[in-house]
Amino acid sequence: MATCYNFSAGPAMLPESVMQQAQAELRDWRGSGTSVMEVSHRGPAFMAVAAQAEADLRDLLAIPDDYTVLFLQGGASSQFAAVPLNLRSPQGCADYYLTGAWSVKAIAEARRHLSVRVVADMHEHQFTQLPVAGGVAFNPQADYVHYTPNETIHGVEFGYIPDTGEIPLVADFSSSILSAPLPVERFGVIYAGAQKNIGPAGLTLVIVRNDLLGRVSDQVPAMLQYALQAEQGSMYNTPPTFAWYLAGLVFAWLKAQGGLQVMAAINQRKADALYAAIDQSDFYHNAVQLDCRSRMNIPFTLADTRLDKTFLAEAEQAGLLALKGHRLAGGMRASLYNAMPEAGVQALIGFMLEFERRYG
Ligand SMILES: Cc1ncc(COP(=O)(O)O)c(C=O)c1O
Repeated sequence: MATCYNFSAGPAMLPESVMQQAQAELRDWRGSGTSVMEVSHRGPAFMAVAAQAEADLRDLLAIPDDYTVLFLQGGASSQFAAVPLNLRSPQGCADYYLTGAWSVKAIAEARRHLSVRVVADMHEHQFTQLPVAGGVAFNPQADYVHYTPNETIHGVEFGYIPDTGEIPLVADFSSSILSAPLPVERFGVIYAGAQKNIGPAGLTLVIVRNDLLGRVSDQVPAMLQYALQAEQGSMYNTPPTFAWYLAGLVFAWLKAQGGLQVMAAINQRKADALYAAIDQSDFYHNAVQLDCRSRMNIPFTLADTRLDKTFLAEAEQAGLLALKGHRLAGGMRASLYNAMPEAGVQALIGFMLEFERRYG
């Protein structure tokens, strides 16, 4: 198989050794004569997989005991509704940061369920910067404050965690979870679709502080109730077992790499190298304010957009896949999640230098 590097924003590449292990045990899982896809989610073999995945995740993120971990379905987009439905009080209001395409969607969904106040609107800056730390005043009556630590499409990432005092902080960590250590105790709810830094699509991770479980009303659909899912061990219905198993392999892989401190250093090196390559020339450009640049998703444009198609076609020929930018942003985007090796980033940089030499 030719060496390819997949820069997709999600579903994204998975670690090679995880794929090899999944392939090796696909049809005969641990000598059982069946695939892990074919066994009951309630049987002891799968229950052990689920328990190990949770234990490894708790270990990686140092999740405190008073937090529940849920392995759900429906993607981060379902959480856009589940968060207000689980956390709203009778008067129902929440503060939201509006920092890019994903917070736009989170807000639109939340507005179906409670009153949303936008506390920082980054529209006017074309989503190329974020509010400064401490620069936002919250409604003391808000049921929670929501933000998107890493905006996958616009490539902006918070370099700090908003201080919301007693108000629970809710974060959509879909595109940066597990990229660095995280002080979970600062959050009320953390959620993330799996298909970037966790595993394949189909699984959604929710980490919720236990005191928030009691707020939900019985009117909320059962599948979306955190308390019910917690009670049922995330098995109110049949969970996405294969995705859960693969997430478990990724967690074990992360531990084997040395944990999130090690991943954070590697991720920083990868991002620094690519930004340096972009910044060293007028041929490439990244519009995001320096201290708001994402380590995970790096959009860039060519000075001459007529070259975009050629760039993408030649990149693909060179085994550098899925570099096309999101349709809302245009240009290119390189996503550098945990599974992207440093060699992949170096290959991209080498290609970019050579492309500039030939077309610049
Ligand atoms: C930050 C962020 N939030 C939410 C989503 C939506 O996730 P899902 O497709 O799992 O609903 C994405 C998907 O790319 C994302 O990047």
